[in-house]
Amino acid sequence: MEHMMMRILAVFTGMTLLLPVAGAEPSSQVAFDVPTVQLLRAADLARGEALAREKKCAKCHGEAGVSDDAEDTNIAGLRASYFYKQLKDYQGGQRDNRSMKKQVRDLDDQQMADLAAWYATREPAPNGTGTANADPAVLELVYRGDPTRLLKSCSSCHGRRGEGGQFDSPPLTGQYPEYFITTMTEFKEGDRANDIYGRMRTTAEALTVEEIEALAAYYSAALPEE
Ligand code: HEC
Ligand code: HEC
Repeated sequence: MEHMMMRILAVFTGMTLLLPVAGAEPSSQVAFDVPTVQLLRAADLARGEALAREKKCAKCHGEAGVSDDAEDTNIAGLRASYFYKQLKDYQGGQRDNRSMKKQVRDLDDQQMADLAAWYATREPAPNGTGTANADPAVLELVYRGDPTRLLKSCSSCHGRRGEGGQFDSPPLTGQYPEYFITTMTEFKEGDRANDIYGRMRTTAEALTVEEIEALAAYYSAALPEE
């Protein structure tokens, strides 16, 4: 009898092992629920500043979050909620980057919230002063989207002037176009997949490489008057 039970158990275990993993992992462990928002509200700027110094974030992101290397992104003036979510996603592996994963390995939630709060108060990098890219096709994507491709306008989530929206919608201005193109390409190819509801993957997937480049140029130049 015991033998039989063992056999049944073995069959079951084998079956479990052979079953394909059901369902996808969540794109992020972060939800902007009450405890998370409370944590962000109670974050401490001075602690965040001290920790940024101790952790030497400036080595790549510049003294106050503005980097002099287009490979490393600017982090000054990002919303604290977006910033915190990215650190959590790097730590949990939902946003895959070896260099950032190492940076946040030993941080707890409070420390990540403190860093986010401090950098959110830093002055973002100024946009370029080059001729604004007012190509009508780009303006169409920015302000109206394209219903034929089920594309919502960038401004509906990122703000009329790319200043960022609520919670996890970051600003698009004050970034190097190189970083913009890299991260959009990662969304397009599914290599960056930490966006809740796939909002950016579905957006980037529908855009051509040329459109991504034009949008990068648009958001990094002086924006045209509306
Ligand atoms: C060794 C270089 C390096 C160091 C040191 C570093 N970072 Fe980064 N960081 C990067 C790179 C490269 C990226 C872009 C990675 C990617 O594409 O996902 C990045 C991305 C980020 C982002 C996401 C920005 C966005 O717009 O989504 C945040 C937030 C961030 N870093 C915060 C920090 C903080 C806080 C520290 C210090 C604790 C830090 N970084 C230290 C290299 C670094
Ligand atoms: C439905 C809302 C929505 C729309 C529409 C949308 N975005 Fe986003 N976008 C987001 C969210 C949310 C994130 C952050 C995802 C995450 O959690 O990492 C994001 C992230 C980004 C990033 C990465 C920023 C960074 O610092 O790493 C870029 C670049 C971007 N969006 C560009 C665009 C452009 C260009 C358009 C229009 C073609 C657009 N988005 C349309 C919601 C949206």
